[in-house]
Amino acid sequence: MVTIRQIAEHARVSTATVSHVINSTAYVSPELRQRVLAAVRELGYQPSALARSLRTKQTKTVGIVIPDITNPFFADVVRGAEDLLLQEGYTLIIGNSDGEARKQEQYYRAFCSKQVDGLLMVVAPAEHPPEYLSRHNCEALPIVYLDRMYRGLRGDGVMADNSGGSYDAVGHLLELGHRRVAIITGPPQLQNARMRLEGYKRALEQYQVQVDGELVREGRFDVESGYEQTRALLSLNNRPTGLFVSNALMTMGSLRAFAEGGVRCPEEMALVSFDDIFWFDLLRPAISAVAQPSYELGAKAAEMLLKRLSGHLKGPPIHKVLETKLMVRDSSNWQFTPAEERAV
Ligand code: RIB
Repeated sequence: MVTIRQIAEHARVSTATVSHVINSTAYVSPELRQRVLAAVRELGYQPSALARSLRTKQTKTVGIVIPDITNPFFADVVRGAEDLLLQEGYTLIIGNSDGEARKQEQYYRAFCSKQVDGLLMVVAPAEHPPEYLSRHNCEALPIVYLDRMYRGLRGDGVMADNSGGSYDAVGHLLELGHRRVAIITGPPQLQNARMRLEGYKRALEQYQVQVDGELVREGRFDVESGYEQTRALLSLNNRPTGLFVSNALMTMGSLRAFAEGGVRCPEEMALVSFDDIFWFDLLRPAISAVAQPSYELGAKAAEMLLKRLSGHLKGPPIHKVLETKLMVRDSSNWQFTPAEERAV
């Protein structure tokens, strides 16, 4: 490994001059600076991150914990955070918790021991905040939560308007004439899943439609539960004519159940998904969806974290809610006429 001393000898300067140029800790004349930089390039010198971190008490690294890197939603979130952090000279390290509390804690402790400067967390489902997060000192190591938070946990957060997005989606189906609209929810331990259910109920109330318990099905935000719950809804004597699914992965399960059961969408069952995945408009019918600003979620969370680190953001935790957008496509765009009216 090339050393400071080798750079100094090559550039015919002192080691102190080399250190000042590399760390910008003092003025160095343009001539000497150029000689040092030329030596750095010619010898291929790589500054030691460890040495720098010991000196500056910063590693210029941020850890992010997400539940599933294979889910396009989280890939966008990570990309938004990474682009902004890289611009500011930070490296992002990803931890994939698989939505498991145990793995989440492992990554939390690993990132802390690696002395990351800050943490971004998309938390795994849990009834209550884990002790290590409740006790965490955000002054020492800032954490910004993304997409969902634990009930009762104090901390900065950035999420989408889950309730408003659902309200718009279900209101769209009710506006088209549907009165038996089902929902497949995410895990009730997750705040965003609960907020999407809340938006569903608010839309039904707005249209004076009673909530029918058999039309509220609990999923797990994965393909299999979307498939299972859609099959259960299709087996009802009084089937729903509209279906709102609380995330894209479960919607894929619903589409499998539609295909298996020969269900015509939207004619027999109109469909709207929370989460808009880029290929939803390539399917036939193209899938109506509530688009979350996933890239922006990551970028805004990273921005909030950097402001905490730089001291530009102080005081109590801040919660930022980003707007969603309903993308109406063919899977719901159908004026529903109740059977009794059609019979006339
Ligand atoms: O598919 C992932 C889902 O879980 C998204 O809706 C996102 O909000 C996350 O919470």
